[in-house]
Amino acid sequence: MLIKKRDLFSFLFYLLAILSTLSCKFRQIAVMIKRKLIDGYPFITYTKEKIDSKDMIIRSKDFFNWMNERRTVRDFSDEPVPKEVIENILLTASTAPSGAHKQPWTFCVVQNADLKKQIRQAAEKEEWESYNGRLPAEWLADLRPLQTDWKKDFLETAPYLIIVFKKSYEVIEEKKRNTYYAVESCGIAVGFLLAAIHKAGLVALTHTPSPMNFLAKLLNRPENEKPFLLLPVGYAADECWIPDLDRKGLDRISAWY
Ligand SMILES: Cc1cc2nc3c(=O)[nH]c(=O)nc-3n(C[C@H](O)[C@H](O)[C@H](O)COP(=O)(O)O)c2cc1C
Repeated sequence: MLIKKRDLFSFLFYLLAILSTLSCKFRQIAVMIKRKLIDGYPFITYTKEKIDSKDMIIRSKDFFNWMNERRTVRDFSDEPVPKEVIENILLTASTAPSGAHKQPWTFCVVQNADLKKQIRQAAEKEEWESYNGRLPAEWLADLRPLQTDWKKDFLETAPYLIIVFKKSYEVIEEKKRNTYYAVESCGIAVGFLLAAIHKAGLVALTHTPSPMNFLAKLLNRPENEKPFLLLPVGYAADECWIPDLDRKGLDRISAWY
């Protein structure tokens, strides 16, 4: 019985070793990349796993259901989040496509309590103006279902504030270089950012304290960077309330030709 047991273990061990070698080989073959120069510029081959229609429908539906669970949150916990998570989220955002691949964004991450306090004070000053005369009546009416106001305590509670800056141009070796479609590019990057935050099990608020120029000053950003969005990121508070909103159906968001 003992010998048999040992034989079984060594058989399993060898089987596992063979399987792992094979899987490595298959992976190497699957990702074998060819390279060439086109007009002097490096190109590589790209392959994407083909999924059958049935599986595609399931995957796309699952992804929609999961993304549909993302919500904007305004009640944050102050529980710390590992820095590496935020780094991974930023790397994900930066995989977004961008005009002429200029990646015209800088993600500023604020953890420092003093700086968060200064940002809150400056944001609340602007927001007080907005809610007390600067915003037109229609805008205020549209905000009523969200029950937002000038108070922004989440700017101090959330463990991280990510401030996205849009580069309307770049400065390389002291020369001004164009970026292209910087607004569109930053918008897509923030979409990726929000998806990555959701995937990590965290929540965010897409915040636009308007006007946002105080952020460039407080964070000492260069002339070519303009504040785009401010996102507090962290865990949802234990008691977290969100507006009970509906999302438009396919018939209202699409036109097919
Ligand atoms: C560009 C943009 C700016 C926004 N600005 C604010 C803001 O300043 N304050 C706020 O509380 N929510 C803001 N929001 C969040 C929206 O109110 C929220 O996305 C919307 O109500 C839908 O809710 P959901 O994200 O949970 O689907 C903003 C969203 C976007 C996309």
